[in-house]
Amino acid sequence: MKIGNLDLGTKLFVAPMAEVTDSSFRKIAKEHGAGLTFTQMISALGAVKNGFETLRHLSFHRSEKPIGVQILGNDPAILGEAVKEIIKFNPDLIDINCGCPVEKVVCHKMGAALLDDPVHMGKIIKKMTDASGGVPITLKVRLGKDRKKINVIEIAKTAEDNGASMITVHARTRADKYDSEPDWNWLKKVKEQVKIPVVGNGSLFTPQDVVKMLDETGCDSAMIARGALGNPFIFERFNNLIEKGIDTGIPSVETVNKVLHKHLKLLQAEYGEPLCLDKAKKNSIWYFRDYAGIDEFLNNVFSAKDCFKLLEIVDDHVEKNLNGYYKHSAPHEVNTRFKKKVLFWLAEENVLTLG
Ligand SMILES: Cc1cc2nc3c(=O)[nH]c(=O)nc-3n(C[C@H](O)[C@H](O)[C@H](O)COP(=O)(O)O)c2cc1C
Repeated sequence: MKIGNLDLGTKLFVAPMAEVTDSSFRKIAKEHGAGLTFTQMISALGAVKNGFETLRHLSFHRSEKPIGVQILGNDPAILGEAVKEIIKFNPDLIDINCGCPVEKVVCHKMGAALLDDPVHMGKIIKKMTDASGGVPITLKVRLGKDRKKINVIEIAKTAEDNGASMITVHARTRADKYDSEPDWNWLKKVKEQVKIPVVGNGSLFTPQDVVKMLDETGCDSAMIARGALGNPFIFERFNNLIEKGIDTGIPSVETVNKVLHKHLKLLQAEYGEPLCLDKAKKNSIWYFRDYAGIDEFLNNVFSAKDCFKLLEIVDDHVEKNLNGYYKHSAPHEVNTRFKKKVLFWLAEENVLTLG
């Protein structure tokens, strides 16, 4: 799949994820074969004002390329100005978020609220494209406001007419929660209606899910969010599956441990103690969610007061897995909850439903 001179192949893309797709996450995903990574979403206004936090989220290392910067905004003029600032960082593409359903975003008519007004959304894409000096402008959308107001085809056509180079469709509406099934029929319809590359997204958890979605919809590529948490292996598994017809399956505990240690080192370097501790805990749990003893591990991880202790807990957990300490090897319950609720250890009322 090509966007101008940028050849992204059909490799899986890492979805933008707020508070998750930091530099450490992107480096690991890239090393394991991700075709495109994304920054966390950043505020267009923050980019124009050179806001410190915005710049921190915007910066990336060359090894994370190809990389897209995702921005959030509503005012075409500000988004145009933001693009002029962001291209100085030399990203491979700039993506406008038209999918985030979180109240504090949509109440400012940003994110998924942009789907309500395709004409306005077209003006945004035009301003961004005019300002981008040739850097591809892309968008990430949901199907529409709710199941009765699906307008993704109008959105896709308007975006294409105004210069967008690629559209990613999360096959749910703004009103849908994660436990509703994504509707792949709409991915197929969008693909049939526009010439720009279409990327399918929503509940892809295994390489086989991705192959099935691509086969059934004709999408040019796929983007994966929750399925990549603690699971950079999904990228190489998918690449192997389509290139050699082999799925190497879920990795051994030793392999997971090795990659997790590397990820934790990167987090320590990126954030330093104590900031990295919460991120290190989250990631440690994600890496081991498919393995025995996850409930006990979860409790232990949350008791860690520093990264040194966390590493000890991880090593102990690995040891217990290897010597058959855990009698029950069925983490299915945790995994089902994980798929439905993003951060599965949070209480029901705190569950996030982002993008
Ligand atoms: C923790 C988390 C943070 C997210 N943050 C963003 C974001 O910043 N921008 C965005 O477009 N989507 C965001 N999303 C939505 C994902 O990119 C993706 O569209 C959605 O989770 C569906 O894909 P999945 O079923 O593979 O998880 C986020 C999702 C999660 C789980």
